[in-house]
Amino acid sequence: MRQALVAANWKMNGTKAQVAELLAGFKAGINAQACQVAIFSPAVFLSDVQQALQGSAIAWGGQNVHSAESGAYTGETSLGMLKEFGCQYVLVGHSERRTLFGESDEVVAEKVAAALSAGVTPMLCIGETLEERESGVTAEVCRRQLKAVLDKVGVAGFNKLVVAYEPVWAIGTGKTASPEQAQEVHADLRAFLQDADAEMAKKIQILYGGSVKAASAAELFAMPDIDGGLVGGASLQIEEFVGICNAAAQ
Ligand code: PGA
Repeated sequence: MRQALVAANWKMNGTKAQVAELLAGFKAGINAQACQVAIFSPAVFLSDVQQALQGSAIAWGGQNVHSAESGAYTGETSLGMLKEFGCQYVLVGHSERRTLFGESDEVVAEKVAAALSAGVTPMLCIGETLEERESGVTAEVCRRQLKAVLDKVGVAGFNKLVVAYEPVWAIGTGKTASPEQAQEVHADLRAFLQDADAEMAKKIQILYGGSVKAASAAELFAMPDIDGGLVGGASLQIEEFVGICNAAAQ
């Protein structure tokens, strides 16, 4: 059985005070024994997150990373740095990184490979744009994004990572994919991975992301191939995020 995982992607939001308030609320409200939880924080707050969550069952990670160990990469964060602040996870290939910061499938694959070698679990984000969905190439695009990483890190790598399917048209728009629409893609992705390795395909967690709210979470998570959620906007509200975690715990 795959365990449910719910992750918060705070994006470029928050202050030190808000981070403290959110984390106190999450710790008080979430039963992290019943569902895995991870918080993706802006890098500058990782020290605060570490202090607040150390010793709790809630994990945390960075929203982006550079694949090099160190060097002349102004503004970037290394895996060693993330690890020093206790990060168990790192978000890789979020659609905002791909579209706004020009990350190609190859760059994403490099980052996943680097995270795996550093012993940090990558959460690999994939998903189609509205235009791609309307042209009927959703499966093709998502499979291509997965394949780029699979070619790089193999089945061994996929045994140690989490996939987040996030249709770009559903991110931050309030337009959640219907449970059936999401399930169709999740099942297709699992079928694609099954061709590489049946055991890995059965075990890998595939999360859904895109306007997940407490009110829509239970229906999404009830789908057989949806193993939890990657939550943006609603993760900045204590009640919403706790509600989503509770939905996953059931
Ligand atoms: P959203 O963001 O929940 O605000 O749509 C999801 C994400 O970008 O990970």
